[in-house]
Amino acid sequence: MPSMTEAAAMTGPMTSPMILADGIRKRFGANEVLKGVSLTLAKGEVVAVIGPSGSGKSTFLRCLNHLETIDAGRIVIEGDVLADNDTGGRARYVADAEVRRICARMGMVFQHFNLFPHLTVLENVIEAPITVKGLKREAILPKAEALLRKVGLFDKRDAYPSRLSGGQKQRVAIARALAMEPDIMLFDEPTSALDPELTGEVLRTMRQLADEHMTMLVVTHEMGFAREVASRVVFMDGGELIESRPAAEFFANPQHPRTRAFLDSML
Ligand SMILES: Nc1ncnc2c1ncn2[C@@H]1O[C@H](COP(=O)(O)OP(=O)(O)O)[C@@H](O)[C@H]1O
Ligand SMILES: [Mg+2]
Repeated sequence: MPSMTEAAAMTGPMTSPMILADGIRKRFGANEVLKGVSLTLAKGEVVAVIGPSGSGKSTFLRCLNHLETIDAGRIVIEGDVLADNDTGGRARYVADAEVRRICARMGMVFQHFNLFPHLTVLENVIEAPITVKGLKREAILPKAEALLRKVGLFDKRDAYPSRLSGGQKQRVAIARALAMEPDIMLFDEPTSALDPELTGEVLRTMRQLADEHMTMLVVTHEMGFAREVASRVVFMDGGELIESRPAAEFFANPQHPRTRAFLDSML
């Protein structure tokens, strides 16, 4: 008979992937945008998602944390079912409160930062912990200040977003997501809206998170970042996941002709 710890290791949360997406289908009207996408992320994995514009990358990310609802498939976050097919093959979500509880474990960073323009940097970071988690301002303040130090923006804590560069805004957005203490971070082209000289500071912050073993799913056009930081690279095209391989193999020896054509087009 296995010991208690062995039994726990076999069946407990340690064995559950951080993200399990299976057969995700999503259509907008007649446009089927996700045609059965499956992807699993283990704890601490950094997965880069690449692919042409319109291939469904953003929609896939948004489906994982319920910014969009799926039509079919199964999403399980850290062992907890968010949505699963019913007997008719249509996705059914768990109760609203459970959806909120599960999705709170995922932080998201968007291409266009989405900071609150009428709030200072510090207020942006503490807003969700106060309004969503019900924390007192004094309780979240030390954590918020530590996060701003971490992203190098403590001296900007009282500035409004309009006074910041794009790179600074995006680092605030990362600090804001981290303030909710997520287990998983989703990034949707976090550097695509930035001037080239500002991408480095954001990628450095992301690399630091990866070094701290944050589980990260990153849609990106930064091939250098994908190659150096991601453990795995996934190529999406036309609503399908075409190829998913360890980063080094992916770039050295892409298997699928569509992957090769895409990588050639990026050079
Ligand atoms: N809210 C929406 N309503 C209708 N169509 C959408 C919506 N969001 C995305 N789409 C469509 O879904 C397809 C995939 O878009 P998207 O997921 O944004 O791709 P990507 O992020 O890879 O560029 C596109 O054809 C896009 O026009
Ligand atoms: Mg997109």
